[in-house]
Amino acid sequence: MKKVLIIGSGGREHAIAWKVKKGAKVYVAPGNGGTAEIATNVPINVDDFATLVNFARSEGIDLTIVGPEKPISLGIYEAFSEVGLKILAPSKKGAKLEASKIFAKNFMKKYGILTADFRAFGRFEEAAAFIKSRDKFPVVIKADGLAAGKGVVIAKSPEEALETLKSFMIDGKFGEASKKVVIEDFLEGQEFSIFVLTDGRDFKVLGGACDYKRLLDGDRGPNTGGMGSVAPVPFLTHEKLKKVVEKIIEPTVTGIQAEGLDYRGFLYFGLIWTAEGPQVLEYNVRLGDPETQAIMPILEGDLLEAAELLLEGRLRDVEIKEPQKKAVTVIAASLGYPIKYVTGKRISGLNYDEDTPLPASPHALRAWGEAKGGGHVIFHAGTEKRDDGIYTAGGRVLAVTGVGESYENAMSRAYNRIEKIHFEGMYYRLDIGEKWTRKILIIAGSESDKEFVSSGTEILEKLGIPYEFKVISAHRNLRELVDFISNFRGFEVIIAVAGLSAHLPGVIAGLTSLPVIGVPRDVGPLNGMDALYSMVQMPRGVPVATMAIGKHGMINAVLYALRILANKYPWARKALENWRK
Ligand code: GLY
Repeated sequence: MKKVLIIGSGGREHAIAWKVKKGAKVYVAPGNGGTAEIATNVPINVDDFATLVNFARSEGIDLTIVGPEKPISLGIYEAFSEVGLKILAPSKKGAKLEASKIFAKNFMKKYGILTADFRAFGRFEEAAAFIKSRDKFPVVIKADGLAAGKGVVIAKSPEEALETLKSFMIDGKFGEASKKVVIEDFLEGQEFSIFVLTDGRDFKVLGGACDYKRLLDGDRGPNTGGMGSVAPVPFLTHEKLKKVVEKIIEPTVTGIQAEGLDYRGFLYFGLIWTAEGPQVLEYNVRLGDPETQAIMPILEGDLLEAAELLLEGRLRDVEIKEPQKKAVTVIAASLGYPIKYVTGKRISGLNYDEDTPLPASPHALRAWGEAKGGGHVIFHAGTEKRDDGIYTAGGRVLAVTGVGESYENAMSRAYNRIEKIHFEGMYYRLDIGEKWTRKILIIAGSESDKEFVSSGTEILEKLGIPYEFKVISAHRNLRELVDFISNFRGFEVIIAVAGLSAHLPGVIAGLTSLPVIGVPRDVGPLNGMDALYSMVQMPRGVPVATMAIGKHGMINAVLYALRILANKYPWARKALENWRK
């Protein structure tokens, strides 16, 4: 059996180990409490290259896969490959795509890769003068070097920008790493990431994900390493991915080759989808954490084989299919993370059968069934294994990934499982994936309503709001309608379209207590007046909010649905704000 060494100790490395362990004997240096259970932990630090190389040689390791950026930027590729050991990691030169923001931005400019306009500065006075001469805010200030994910500030005013520049460039907040800075335009849109494997000539897309960087629900509070993730990228249609490939990934790989960056490893594209399309926010020369914990469980391909083929110069032969499932990853952190937190707390509920008494209610029984049989994986991050169990050993402690046919399904599996886990001071966000679960249900009576409905759904698609569209007729398929409306879960607003003397919105309103918005279609001899009258004049107790006849009514219906959702969901408020712009 092949022997694989994985370098790192986080949830990302646990997920990589989990993915490759079927085909190999896996070692993780230094690993965590979770990798201890599926692999052999080796207590060597990620930057102790001499000891790592000795271990790899004496143990006969066939392949080493590197997780974090630090050993890559310090030259782990060189240390291993100089003695003929196979390693999946870019060279020190390649690592500059992450380790120097100035290098990365100049690279993007040179190869015509879409990114925000920028200026680079090595002297505080010049950077400050640039800020003073500028009238466009917010502005983004990035420390040139590695700053553990904390080196990016979005300054809303000139004062904030000058303060940031002073702390970075004069006070040396991140030492040498912040002595030089990039100042760039602030881009608005939906952030997402795409991960590829590349050998600097070819590439294969491994997958994409959205990360939840803020600590609190509704994307509030301080930035963290990531409190959860969702994969694949919910709004990334084939067409959009094609654009990312053509405008961003291909020219990047061309640039890597042209510059001779000696790159054989993962490449992380931190992207944003703006009104003008995709743009690069950053490159990282590794996989993301916690994106990897969502991507690995749904990856349709053999990661170990892909890594081996890449190192043999046969990346072209690697087959990675589009994921068929969705994944939602929720991070359990220690209270106080990302600032100050305690460690050394015992974690219970990891082995559900042992730690939990028999389910006490039907709800608990269903949750138990989901947790046992339903698709989920628990990845460890800051944990350690002791004789009597697993203990917390870091700020981000666990990543629980739910897998399902839909985001709703994956989300409920992740949350059903994480609710069974406990440690003192455990904290997790409650809204990971929420934005991508469908809240709006649009029903029309016939396939021919599709084009009419698109006047509203186009807006939802532009704003990145998921919805479900169903064709069920109230008079042709009444039984199906009753069955569907009585049994679905998750939707919070229903838009029902009807032409002629409408039944659909009224029948639905009679079957549900959710808000129903009726849209009369301008069809038939009365051109929608009949539909309008029958909708607007509902009997007492069966309310239907009636929109105007025709496409304007359809547009208002989706905006009205968003207004209802905006009472509860910050993402709906944000979407309405974007719509007004
Ligand atoms: N989740 C963000 C990162 O890995 O950098």
